[in-house]
Amino acid sequence: MNKLQPIYRKDYTLSEYLIHTTELEFDLTETQTIVTSKISFYKNPKSNKKTNILFLDGIDLELISILVDKAKPDYKLVEQGLEINNLADEFILEIKNCIHPEKNTSLYGLYQSNGNFCTQCEAHGFRQITYYLDRPDVLSVFTTHIKADKQKYLVLLSNGNLIKQINGSTTWHDPTPKPCYLFALVVGNFALKEDTYITLSGNEVTLKIYVQAHNINKTQFAMAALKRSFAWEEKRFGLEYDLDIYMIVAVDDFNMGAMENKGLNIFNTTYVLASIDTVTDKDFIDIEAVIGHEYFHNWTGNRVTCRDWFQLSLKEGLTVFRDQEFTSDLHTRSIKRIEDVNTLRTLQFAEDMSSMQHLVRPEHYIEMNNFYTLTVYEKGAEIIRMVHTFLGEVGFQKGMQLYFQRFDGDAVTIDDFIQSMSDANNFDFDQFMYWYSQSGTPEVSIVSDYNHNDKTFKVFIRQHSQCDYFFPLRFALLDDTGTKLESGILTVKDKEQIFIFNNMDVEPTPSWLRGFSAPIKLKSDLTFKQKIFLVRHDSDAFNQWDNAQQLWLSLILIPSSINQDLFFDAIEKVLKNTFLDGSCVSLVQDKSLICEILTLPSEQFLHQQQEIIDVFEVHDKREKVINKIIERFKLLFSKIYSKLNIYQPYELTPEAVGNRALKNICLYYLAISGEFELAFEQFKSANCMNDKMASLKALIVSDNSYKNIALDGFYHEFKNDTQVMDKYFSIQSSASTANVESIKVLMQHKLFSFNTPNRLRSVIGSFSQNYVNFHNQQGYELLTNIIIKLNQSNPQIGAKLTSVYNHWQRFTPKLKALQKQQLEKILAIENLSNNIFEIIQAALK
Ligand code: PHE
Ligand code: ZN
Repeated sequence: MNKLQPIYRKDYTLSEYLIHTTELEFDLTETQTIVTSKISFYKNPKSNKKTNILFLDGIDLELISILVDKAKPDYKLVEQGLEINNLADEFILEIKNCIHPEKNTSLYGLYQSNGNFCTQCEAHGFRQITYYLDRPDVLSVFTTHIKADKQKYLVLLSNGNLIKQINGSTTWHDPTPKPCYLFALVVGNFALKEDTYITLSGNEVTLKIYVQAHNINKTQFAMAALKRSFAWEEKRFGLEYDLDIYMIVAVDDFNMGAMENKGLNIFNTTYVLASIDTVTDKDFIDIEAVIGHEYFHNWTGNRVTCRDWFQLSLKEGLTVFRDQEFTSDLHTRSIKRIEDVNTLRTLQFAEDMSSMQHLVRPEHYIEMNNFYTLTVYEKGAEIIRMVHTFLGEVGFQKGMQLYFQRFDGDAVTIDDFIQSMSDANNFDFDQFMYWYSQSGTPEVSIVSDYNHNDKTFKVFIRQHSQCDYFFPLRFALLDDTGTKLESGILTVKDKEQIFIFNNMDVEPTPSWLRGFSAPIKLKSDLTFKQKIFLVRHDSDAFNQWDNAQQLWLSLILIPSSINQDLFFDAIEKVLKNTFLDGSCVSLVQDKSLICEILTLPSEQFLHQQQEIIDVFEVHDKREKVINKIIERFKLLFSKIYSKLNIYQPYELTPEAVGNRALKNICLYYLAISGEFELAFEQFKSANCMNDKMASLKALIVSDNSYKNIALDGFYHEFKNDTQVMDKYFSIQSSASTANVESIKVLMQHKLFSFNTPNRLRSVIGSFSQNYVNFHNQQGYELLTNIIIKLNQSNPQIGAKLTSVYNHWQRFTPKLKALQKQQLEKILAIENLSNNIFEIIQAALK
């Protein structure tokens, strides 16, 4: 097998053999782990292959013994696996092999974190544990025996139910057949937070959260969030949990956010540990979302899984959609939508413009782990959201029910899912499938024409893509008080389409693509004045925000294109109307919305709008607008700040979150204008991490006498808290005062660690987004050296960081050439991992 040969979706074939049961035994010691497997294979009745050869995946394994039906088989070790010949239609394979989790720095397969053992098997980690059919369409019932030194390790966990426990060993049985990527094993010492949940049909489920002992007081929120996930899944989707126990284990060293292993989720501590003193408002809501996400995978991912990895969005797009709905139902829907679309447009649209552009259902991969992307996850979720918009909640749920009726216990494709939606609703999704077979962001333009004589409002829609997408365009036509004259969903399907609205007595202002009803780039003919009107009067909060974003964008990039005074008058009215003069008795989400409206498009988003990315120009232009904002609103910000900065006990209600959000954005602008005392006061008196972080961010906008006092104080207060230390590092790496030298100093810090992805992300990841300070030869060289080091120790994270260069072709000539050199330098190193190779190959193509 040539490691550089991509795997293609079109080459999918059924496995010649399947597995009934898998019995595993782990004997873990400090110097090695012995894995013994007993696997019962049988011929796949649906496969027409008749080779009688079994190829098992296996990487970095030391084979100790192998038996087929108790006898020595005809086998050979091959690259990346093991081949056994002359097999019967049914047989038992027994293998013993040795692995070295204590030396595994890749955090893939079986590895150690803080001395505890844990696993990560998705997508292809199981083959680093033992020889197996490591593919998601081979499902079997697992029984797992675990042996470890009982003096040293008290907690020994695997999937399913605990069926036996005698000193120093446990046996777990998972009755639900599963692919090996959902296997998990945890051995070590943890503190336990325990609770129960009674399902709708009356089953008692034991809930357990395992964390390192010193973190036990930060598990309450996660437990409550888990219970809310169980309840929401029952209420909104009618789905219950299926085992008697649900476990979450939090580890510090983890490549991703969390993993949905059956009955035994393994989480990055970032997404478990929470307390008012250590996480922000956003962190709380993100933690709840990830806990929900992993729980929701139990049905969308585990009970029904993917036939092959090209179908990854089957489980991820759908589960992200579900976790977005969870957060929307529990918090403020419009704000959640604004944040999600902002992420999509900032990061996924950019991915679509990069060398790693790919389909939501990719056609090929070299290293599957490179495809856990914004496109598969976030764009995938947008596609599911469009299905939901077309069918409505009732129709969507009918489709879900049919999907589970048909496929519970199976490994299926995205087509199977869409077909269920289609059949349950008698809705034709054929043309809709372009969303999965075309890459890139569709561009659509819309022009309208009002005729005073015949009172018609005509709308012309035009698609500028290769194919004609099928999508819902949610809209409203508003009169000059913002009242809806007409609203609904237009079904767009042709290259050019005309919609005519009759009996329009006055010329309406259209509000297009409400709630961002399709993941497209929409160019409308709305005038400057109409946009201003929509910022103030659209009843769709998303469009209020979006129109403000468009105006900020124009003001930043082409200041002469809009009338700044008129725009600022409107912003002032938004600020005053909804809040200061009390004329509008606070809609709950208002202050959060105002905060969103006051937030400028990020530099990263602005880069997308440039033909050639000039990081310095974008930065300067954006700074200019920040200064204009301060010039105009400084007094108002002061007023709002002092009105909102009153002591209140911490709550996570929309009202309280909104108060803090608005207060803190005012503080931020005030700090830029030089009011550091205010920020320092807040730093000292804050009663929650949210406000403390906000003040720290305000204090580091530029050099001032409080900056280092605050940073040092923060460090001394929290140096024993790993999670907060990530904030400490990332805030410094993102600071406008950061440079390559200061990053090197951070990397010498005793708390910096190369082997902990969270720490790398907080220092190096953050710095790579610090555009004006990172984009220079020294910045690139620093990053490249880190990538080269990671190529050996953790290629997954190495590949993530390499992706920083995926946009190199769009930069100004000098930076473009420098980035290309970096790619070539990395490509030339010995033993380049598949992970990094794939990214570089795509970038240099
Ligand atoms: N499947 C995980 C999720 O989205 C993500 C993940 C992928 C974690 C691969 C680890 C490795 O919930
Ligand atoms: Zn997921």
